[in-house]
Amino acid sequence: MFEPSDEQRALIEATRGFCMDRLGPTAEADDEHERFDRAHLAALGAQGLAGIATSEAYGGLGLGYLEYAMVIEEIGAISASWAVGIAVTGLPQRILADFGTEEQRLRWMPGLASGELLGAFALSEAGSGSDAAALKTTAVRHADKWVLTGSKYWITHGGVADLYIVMARTGAPGPKGISAFLVPGDAPGLSFGRKERKMGLRASPTAEVILDGVELPLDAMIGQEGGGFGVAMAALDSGRITIAATAVGLARSATEYAARYAAERKQFGQAIIDFQGVGFMLADMATQVEYSRLLVHKAAWLRDNGRPYGDVAAMAKVTATDAAMKITTDAVQVLGGYGYCKDHPVERYMRDAKIMQIVEGTNQVQRIVIARALKRRVGA
Ligand code: CAA
Repeated sequence: MFEPSDEQRALIEATRGFCMDRLGPTAEADDEHERFDRAHLAALGAQGLAGIATSEAYGGLGLGYLEYAMVIEEIGAISASWAVGIAVTGLPQRILADFGTEEQRLRWMPGLASGELLGAFALSEAGSGSDAAALKTTAVRHADKWVLTGSKYWITHGGVADLYIVMARTGAPGPKGISAFLVPGDAPGLSFGRKERKMGLRASPTAEVILDGVELPLDAMIGQEGGGFGVAMAALDSGRITIAATAVGLARSATEYAARYAAERKQFGQAIIDFQGVGFMLADMATQVEYSRLLVHKAAWLRDNGRPYGDVAAMAKVTATDAAMKITTDAVQVLGGYGYCKDHPVERYMRDAKIMQIVEGTNQVQRIVIARALKRRVGA
């Protein structure tokens, strides 16, 4: 775990080179123009990077979450938008692998894993973000179909996805009345609100998803009726590892950029890295990147080895994303006035880091998950 194997090293290096060549040249402009370039998805998919942890039987690379985290770190080092894109299109793949029928898997997973199709995860609503179990979108069962009505908010890939996993209420209030559904992007009755104008992650589209009497066949449900909240929570346990890995990539790039700048920039007759105030700031940044990665890899390793990992994934998410926020803010500080301007990428890193503390469960929610696991561990 402390040293990647030869195969992992080759995967990291190939991904790094690919991301620098393919995503690097347009990362700045994609951010500036809020451009979601579907050709990037096809290119990532052609490299196998859209289905890293999906088994080969369904078109993926069949690797573990450790390799998934390594790859996401590399994508995140170049483009946080695309790291989150790959993480989010991975969520339906996880859900199908863990809860889908063979028919559902064969219908959707190869396309998602190859990057030909794009996936999305629709849990949040205007009135239920952190309190996900309070969602109000309904799914009503008829003799031969389900009918879904409601609205989902802040949906990554809203309006551009081919498949939405939608959590809707099929029963009583609370978590046990929720079920999960596979909703094709072209389902009649599905429409989209305006694209959100975001501070960061601007190359990743976010929009409201509106379900106005969307009719689905009875086999569109994924998992058991009433089991949808568990489906969503299990997916988020995995997803939080990928968000944390994105943050590590982002923070690493910010640290390296700031260190290079500080080694070259001279003030008062010497490189500013040699002033203890700046050097120590960079030392703290490098340290935080290292310990964040260790925790991300630990969570991934636990998952790969079939051990309970939800609380460690939450710890990794809190640690890596809080660190990324601090590191990217400090990177701007190291560059001073230059850092605040768009000629350098550190201001983008800082804007992108902020959403990592919010997406896939705020860092306050992560602490709820950690505290509850702790309570269970001490037998209370
Ligand atoms: N795995 C499987 N099942 C789980 C679970 C898990 N990790 N956590 C909970 N459950 C199930 C349990 O079966 C539990 O039932 P039991 O009582 O029988 O054990 C049931 O769910 C209810 O659990 P809780 O009582 O813990 O539920 P809660 O209402 O108190 O909520 C919460 C807990 C942790 C705060 C949860 O609501 C939560 O995670 N909120 C944040 C939601 C979130 O992360 N949203 C992000 C949306 S996606 C996104 O950001 C963007 C994107 O595009 C991907």
